[in-house]
Amino acid sequence: MAQQEDVFKKIVSHCKEYGFVFPSSDIYDGLGAVYDYGQNGVELKNNIKQYWWQFMTLLHDNIVGIDSAIFMHPTIWKASGHVDAFNDPLIDNRDSKKRYRADVLIEDQIAKYDEKIDKEVAKAAKRFGDAFDEAQFRATNARVLENQAKRDALHERFSVAMNANDLEGLKQIIIDEEIACPISGTRNWTDVRQFNLMFSTEMGSTAEGASKIYLRPETAQGIFVNYLNVQKTGRMKIPFGIAQIGKAFRNEIVARQFIFRMREFEQMEMQFFVKPGTELQWFEEWKKRRMAWHQALGFGAENYRFHDHEKLAHYANAASDVEFHMPFGFKEVEGIHSRTDFDLSQHAKFSGKKIEYFDPEENRSYTPYVIETSIGVDRMFLSVMCHSYEEQKLADGQTRTVLHLPAALAPIKLAVFPLTKKDGLPEKAREIVNELQYHFKCVYEEKDQIGKRYRRQDAIGTPFCVTVDPDTLTDGCVTLRDRDTMEQQRVKIEDLRSLIEDKVSITSLLKKLK
Ligand code: GAP
Repeated sequence: MAQQEDVFKKIVSHCKEYGFVFPSSDIYDGLGAVYDYGQNGVELKNNIKQYWWQFMTLLHDNIVGIDSAIFMHPTIWKASGHVDAFNDPLIDNRDSKKRYRADVLIEDQIAKYDEKIDKEVAKAAKRFGDAFDEAQFRATNARVLENQAKRDALHERFSVAMNANDLEGLKQIIIDEEIACPISGTRNWTDVRQFNLMFSTEMGSTAEGASKIYLRPETAQGIFVNYLNVQKTGRMKIPFGIAQIGKAFRNEIVARQFIFRMREFEQMEMQFFVKPGTELQWFEEWKKRRMAWHQALGFGAENYRFHDHEKLAHYANAASDVEFHMPFGFKEVEGIHSRTDFDLSQHAKFSGKKIEYFDPEENRSYTPYVIETSIGVDRMFLSVMCHSYEEQKLADGQTRTVLHLPAALAPIKLAVFPLTKKDGLPEKAREIVNELQYHFKCVYEEKDQIGKRYRRQDAIGTPFCVTVDPDTLTDGCVTLRDRDTMEQQRVKIEDLRSLIEDKVSITSLLKKLK
């Protein structure tokens, strides 16, 4: 575990050192849970967004995109339930003055029981070797059974308190479990309070009467309130989807784990409008399609799992998360929700507008049901980084840090190096960049020895490097080096485009999905 935490720390500093992610307002010592993307980060992030956008809008002829404003009519958030219910339960420790999410403190306690059980199992596995029967051990070992019983009882109490919004109940659990503040070590807790996660600001000058508006906490509502506009102007027939990528804002109480939980982040959301009664079939279908999208990146099926929600939001009749194996455990990257007709019906009620679909096949109107797929760009970015980062021991005893980014997502696809800065080699190398830069992102580099230049490109995940040497000027060939295998081959300059373009294009990923 500690080793995994070290790896995570290294990934965070790698992100800063190589221009992927910087703390926001860095020269002012940062701003809590807000981050900026640097010169390489923005390219990787844009590629992730392209991959998602093209999957949705190119591969599905019944999905179109929109880009709605961040500021929206304040009644939208009343209708959606966010004003009244978009809360987290918070608790303060009076000694450290630190604020925590009560539910997270309890979840961490549940995880501690899991860890104790896993430790017992690991110890026994080591002791018994090949003869070890894990299922039998878990079913019979006294210490495992005792911890399992405590864990299950806590989990049950926690679920009941959360489902009933029982804040006193949550505090009582924290007291009974003797949960202490990790900073002060004391159990001097305040009561648990609800804390609304929406940021608000004022629109308009006070003279004309300013009104309180919110920074959107999800992009989805911009889609719901445009349902009629898009359906009518696009003459969309159910089932159809509307996709959107954009910023969302949440005043997270506890912002942890780098870009995993941010106060300003980006979402890629798609609402798929279906006939009532067909939603659970579509829910299963979208689970499949989204999992295929993730797995096409080649990170290994074993690193993904679904986590079905036990506690459903009041408007949902099914919900499942796609979780990815991060260095700090399996964590949610995407949510897939069957949201019934809740949002459209609420907006119809609050706006007074009829929001329905006339189904020509059934000759009747109804309020469509909605399947939502919602993924955080930043979390996706983090999962890509975590999986790609490697400190590789080489045969000669040296270590190289390499990002095995899927080539289609890599910020730079090709780096072109002249072997030396003389004899016309820089000019030839620049000629290659000038030719290929129309097709994919290339850079020219002449500083330092070739070995150092390779290492710099490995560290930012550039899949291909090309070296121009004196022979190039006579035979028209260059050395093409592969990031992952470090193998080098001599190829003709005119073949470079065809050798590289396919491998680094988003299309290469999309083709795996058809
Ligand atoms: N419209 C549904 C919705 O917003 P959600 O589960 O609250 O659902 C969807 O969020 C996704 O947005 C999450 O799976 C996660 O990837 C991302 N996300 C949510 N809160 C985030 C935060 N504070 N920082 C970064 N990403 C976040």
